[in-house]
Amino acid sequence: MNAGDQIAIDVKGLTKSFGGREVVHDLSMQVKRGSIYGFLGPNGSGKTTTIRILCGLLTPDSGEGTCLGYDILRDADKIKRQVGYMTQRFSLYQDLSVRENLEFVARLYGLADARGAARDMIKRLGLSGREAQLAGELSGGWKQRLALGACTLPSPKLLLLDEPTAGVDPKARRDFWNEIHALAAEGLTVLVSTHYMDEAERCHEIAYIAYGHLLTHGTVEEVIAGSKLTTYTVTGENLNGLTAALSGEPGIDMVAPFGTSLHVSGRDVAALEASIAPWRDNSGLHWQKAAPSLEDVFIELMGRSRDNFQG
Ligand SMILES: Nc1ncnc2c1ncn2[C@@H]1O[C@H](COP(=O)(O)OP(=O)(O)OP(=O)(O)O)[C@@H](O)[C@H]1O
Ligand SMILES: [Mg+2]
Repeated sequence: MNAGDQIAIDVKGLTKSFGGREVVHDLSMQVKRGSIYGFLGPNGSGKTTTIRILCGLLTPDSGEGTCLGYDILRDADKIKRQVGYMTQRFSLYQDLSVRENLEFVARLYGLADARGAARDMIKRLGLSGREAQLAGELSGGWKQRLALGACTLPSPKLLLLDEPTAGVDPKARRDFWNEIHALAAEGLTVLVSTHYMDEAERCHEIAYIAYGHLLTHGTVEEVIAGSKLTTYTVTGENLNGLTAALSGEPGIDMVAPFGTSLHVSGRDVAALEASIAPWRDNSGLHWQKAAPSLEDVFIELMGRSRDNFQG
């Protein structure tokens, strides 16, 4: 096996415009086989568009690369056959039962024993007892599980999951992620977009994209370290007043409330320290230096990219 076989997605310089507006800009990324790669970024940042380019559904204006070893420009049909794609909106038939949906999908994929495949998948997903329930009547969490089952039926090598757990409760999200990890452990590569920080932390690697630009990538630890953010957690009285006083001051890149505390972050330590100095001795406030959370990093990145790309 050569090094290329270890990489499921290897693309560079992807660019895509719609109506003269560039929504994916010079995007390069590599995803290792068998890994779970998280795709994060604000609404409209180009995640879905990138996912569609990767599986050959959309042709980029420029850029090149491979997905599962196939050229994304020339071998789209081959890629599609080995990719399971769970779209951002529920795409199964609401008025078919769980079993009917799975059997239908299995037949679409031309599986020899559609009935058996559906039965096995129902068992695997813990949907036993719900086979006859209409898909439209399932809870959000079960719907997403069913959709995951449907897109893994043909035993794909790569799963593209576009915000698979949006609006799903924490317990169901956790179960869903346990299943994703089980699939990855079996060798499947998973690219998943999400807005949830806890989910980002369950990925082997993540990438953050804003306004079509891939701003950072790596393991969670690498992304946090690469942010070069210094963060203080502040508790005490009148945090609203402190927020107003610090916002926009030199070195203060972000001031954000987290529960009963305030996170104050910046990349220029000296400027940050100077700006908070007048407030450090305030007896009503307690300051503690903390490791920035992933959320701190993303909020700061989002603020910075807004400045850069929207003028
Ligand atoms: N087919 C299309 N035609 C025109 N514009 C499009 C098309 N598809 C996407 N866009 C625009 O491209 C931008 C990026 O959209 P995209 O759906 O890739 O973002 P996203 O990161 O998936 O957002 P979200 O988190 O809301 O799902 C958006 O401004 C969107 O309106
Ligand atoms: Mg999207």
